[in-house]
Amino acid sequence: MVQLTLPQNSKVKQGKQIYHHCEDGKELPEQRVFKIYRYNPELNENPTYDTIAFDVNQCGPMVLDALLFIKNEIDSTLTFRKSCREGICGSCAMNIDGVNTLACTKPISEIKGVIKINPLPHMYVIKDLVPDLSEAYKQYQSIQPWMQSIQKYSYRNGEIRERLQKPEDREKLEGLWECILCFCCSTSCPSYWWNSDKYLGPAVLLQNNRWIVDSRDDMKEARLKSLDDSFKLYRCHTIMNCTNTCPKNLNPAKAIAEIKNNLSHLGA
Ligand code: SF4
Ligand code: SF4
Ligand code: FES
Repeated sequence: MVQLTLPQNSKVKQGKQIYHHCEDGKELPEQRVFKIYRYNPELNENPTYDTIAFDVNQCGPMVLDALLFIKNEIDSTLTFRKSCREGICGSCAMNIDGVNTLACTKPISEIKGVIKINPLPHMYVIKDLVPDLSEAYKQYQSIQPWMQSIQKYSYRNGEIRERLQKPEDREKLEGLWECILCFCCSTSCPSYWWNSDKYLGPAVLLQNNRWIVDSRDDMKEARLKSLDDSFKLYRCHTIMNCTNTCPKNLNPAKAIAEIKNNLSHLGA
């Protein structure tokens, strides 16, 4: 039977309320309130929203800076992923103020009112703001995301040399190579929410297109044929959430349309 309400043990309850004051007890000129999703599988308890307020003048300007301040100064149990803190590694992806984005590039000042922070939606939660990306990585692995050439080496004047690419062919990789696999797009896609076991989702499809259009890769046809499946590719219904949310301003919906177009020419 279809379940239209959350099971009792998934309902998010109210958690701790912490109002952090400066040591000298002075007024807090830039106090902001953060509402943060918390879940610890070891406690066998419902998830909660912790409310934490503090003066954001004490930390850097981004949401990640605020999370680091909370972890270092207020509650060391808060768990989240991060590494590069400059929008390159993709590990700090989370839902901030209702939008999937990177905590390290999202300015606190852009958010009005209470700052709500949740893990990426529709993924299993390992702890707090850390989603389980194992299945998404398996899907990524399934597209064989590496260069595949029939000829093992490239030769010039009898010597093994680097594989060259014309500038116009390199141009085709623009808008694709920049993807940092943060999965903000896939986890904003309704088609992926309902069929994440079979639909590859916009992140993996954009990555697939990166290899399909690469002039140095010889597996274009095989890569396209492997996608000719009602679920893997055609579950995309061009809803465009993916493109709207991408924190790197990429266009996964366009990449998916290109794949569909290339596939249709293959069959022609
Ligand atoms: S396309 Fe954008 S949102 Fe999707 S994984 Fe790549 S960088 Fe992240
Ligand atoms: S365009 Fe396709 S991949 Fe992007 S959100 Fe819509 S259904 Fe999902
Ligand atoms: S910490 Fe690397 S993208 Fe945010």
